[in-house]
Amino acid sequence: MAEHAVPEEKNKIDEFRNSGHRVVDALADHLASIEDRSLFPQVTPSYVNDLFDEPMPEEGSPPDEVLKAIEEKLLPNCTQVTHPGYMGLITPTPLPVGALGDFIASTINQNVGTYSLGPAAVAIERRTVRWLLDLVGYDQAAGGNLTSGGTMANFIGLKLARDFISGNKAQHEGVRDRWAVYMSDQRQVSLDKAVDAIGVGREAMKLVPTNERYEIDIDELEKAIARDKAEGLKPLCIVAMAGTTNTGSVDDLVALRTIANREGMWLHADAAYGGGMILSHNPGPACLKGLELADSITMDPHKWFFAPVDAGAILVRDGAQLWESFGMVPAYLKDEHDTEGERFQYFAHSFEQSRRFRGLKVWMIFKRYGTKQIGHWIDENIAQARHLHGLVEASDDFHSACEPVMSAVCLRYQPPSLADADEEVIGRLHHEVALRIEQGGKFWFGTTLMKGQWWFRINPVNFRTTISHMDELYETLQRECAEVEAALGVK
Ligand SMILES: Cc1ncc(COP(=O)(O)O)c(C=O)c1O
Repeated sequence: MAEHAVPEEKNKIDEFRNSGHRVVDALADHLASIEDRSLFPQVTPSYVNDLFDEPMPEEGSPPDEVLKAIEEKLLPNCTQVTHPGYMGLITPTPLPVGALGDFIASTINQNVGTYSLGPAAVAIERRTVRWLLDLVGYDQAAGGNLTSGGTMANFIGLKLARDFISGNKAQHEGVRDRWAVYMSDQRQVSLDKAVDAIGVGREAMKLVPTNERYEIDIDELEKAIARDKAEGLKPLCIVAMAGTTNTGSVDDLVALRTIANREGMWLHADAAYGGGMILSHNPGPACLKGLELADSITMDPHKWFFAPVDAGAILVRDGAQLWESFGMVPAYLKDEHDTEGERFQYFAHSFEQSRRFRGLKVWMIFKRYGTKQIGHWIDENIAQARHLHGLVEASDDFHSACEPVMSAVCLRYQPPSLADADEEVIGRLHHEVALRIEQGGKFWFGTTLMKGQWWFRINPVNFRTTISHMDELYETLQRECAEVEAALGVK
């Protein structure tokens, strides 16, 4: 048995070495030729489903055959988010060194939930989290952890709010009071899920209107709090948007802190996307003034720090609250060797037990490029958004929702000929144009609805995009919008 096991193991390692070289070569070729491909694959959902429609294999296949399927079926049918024309949902063009980090993390399979499953990995994870805490300006009492993304970070932020404000009772007794959670009508949908998941219910989510820059209206917030208190609700938490998904708008964090203090509420800031502004050199991070006043912050390295997906972060001003909320240690997880209390246990400071070693790719990105270079890429994306905004402002046919604060810009086609058109027609036009541009294969972006109006939502989070791509995008938009308008017969 042992005789057989040794050569088999050696074969596995040789295969890993050979296949690994082939995979890296195939991916490097893929990245090098990205602009020759259609950004969005020109295939139907049933075509791609059929490609993989086979029963679970009972017998294995040779490695070359498995890799051939990847090269022939997966790579050509990807959305090429590394293409410079990708300006859609906030998934960055990832830095290749981050992909290597993921590869290493999977190969050594360190489970950073417990110290005993990866001492050095836990140290790297903690260092990476500390760097993020330092970036937002939190002191040594702060703590945090890396999450699958902004959705999970927002959920943890709201759970910490519920636990702290209930005097750490709600996690034992359940939710007994009628609470209210305040946020702007521009909040991201993960927050709707979070208020449900922490048990206060979505009716407890009080949406406050925004001003013309899509920032929370402070007077309206004050009125809502007063109204709800009069009806017997208890204010639990304010969620500040520090970079909305649609327009990168930032709520007045200082004013929200003052209100939260007065009302005894937790302040959570969603800077999942906007946290990148901390590294900006020009215009710089001033738009995030007061971020460090929040009790907890969501900030995603897998957005504007160009990490491959699966790297969000929850940062907490008083890190001890993480233990209050998650510090359960059953006998089978107790580290009996930790006589000095030095072995950090992520499972007791966060929701997940088994945890992917996410810190490695983020750590490698910061080590390889440093904050200065990442900040320059961020500045380029901001300049690109402003350039597009400027082109649109000079036109009678297009409108920009507001001057971009970050790299998200919302544009709307409504020439004088469509001044009285029904919004349903305008919506159809925007969707049709976005579809035609997707089919053109050179750009990808989304559409969105704000204050009852349809917009193109264009958001470079991409170090390959340049100003000339924005010029080309604008020309494409002008042409496609005019053609669709004529085709719809609404002229
Ligand atoms: C402001 C904001 N918060 C939260 C999220 C959710 O993040 P994730 O997709 O990483 O779960 C997003 C996603 O774009 C976002 O823009």
